[in-house]
Amino acid sequence: MTISLPTLLNQTELAVKEAGEFARNAFQNFSRQQVEYKGKNDLFSYVDVQTEQLLKEKLGTLLPGAGFIGEETADAQAINDYTWIVDPIDGTTNFVHGIPMFAISVALRQGTEVVLGIVYEVIGDELFAAYKGGGATLNGEAIQVSECKVLAESLIGTGFPKKGLSSLDEYLKLVAYMLAASHGIRRMGSAAIDLVYVACGRLEGFFEWGLNPWDVAAGALIVQEAGGIVSDFKGGNDYLFGKQIIASNGHIQEDLEEVIKANERMIG
Ligand code: IPD
Ligand code: CA
Repeated sequence: MTISLPTLLNQTELAVKEAGEFARNAFQNFSRQQVEYKGKNDLFSYVDVQTEQLLKEKLGTLLPGAGFIGEETADAQAINDYTWIVDPIDGTTNFVHGIPMFAISVALRQGTEVVLGIVYEVIGDELFAAYKGGGATLNGEAIQVSECKVLAESLIGTGFPKKGLSSLDEYLKLVAYMLAASHGIRRMGSAAIDLVYVACGRLEGFFEWGLNPWDVAAGALIVQEAGGIVSDFKGGNDYLFGKQIIASNGHIQEDLEEVIKANERMIG
């Protein structure tokens, strides 16, 4: 099957905006009684489920036969040549607490390569998009990573894992080190947003441990297409399924890798 990525990106943007409309209305009318739990601190609601359902239907018509890996539903045939990787609401904890910082994240993988990515920050109405080789955009305008060259002048994003809290002390040491070495740390509550903020130069870097492919697939491509670098904690490429990610403007990538490598127990 031959597809035109620019055309498919436009069609996918429309589907994501439509799902965003649903999520925006739901956010405005949401009540804390509607929260459900997959596990401790692992929240979801009907909004995650229905937004994903909407996307699954729309994306299914764009690319019939493509596989689907979503945060709420995985498709048994998700090994097809083309596979959608979808987080319907990245930032669910923000969402249920009424914090207007959450995003829809949609990526398309061809074989082992992510070729298209969209992160839509719903309430801010900021749509970040990229396709392989086509550069990255924010609401249609080209974006680039920041030109800052030193960690000491960098703002760094991170997040804290919900599971595997036995390693949390080590992680917090790393965070403390990074805090002292940079302009500061931000915890947005959405890895997809952290990544696209690196892509457009609001953050110089981002690192997190314990993430899933749907949290990072779209954002990582957008960082790369905006001129940045993405790796796992060892500097390799296993950031999609490997649960470790570093993303940066490129200039501070080695600094971030060194700081993280210095903490052997985090690398595992
Ligand atoms: C979460 C967010 C958060 C990150 C968590 C993720 P969710 O995704 O990306 O920033 O720190 O580890 O699970 O649950 O809001 O879709
Ligand atoms: Ca997520």
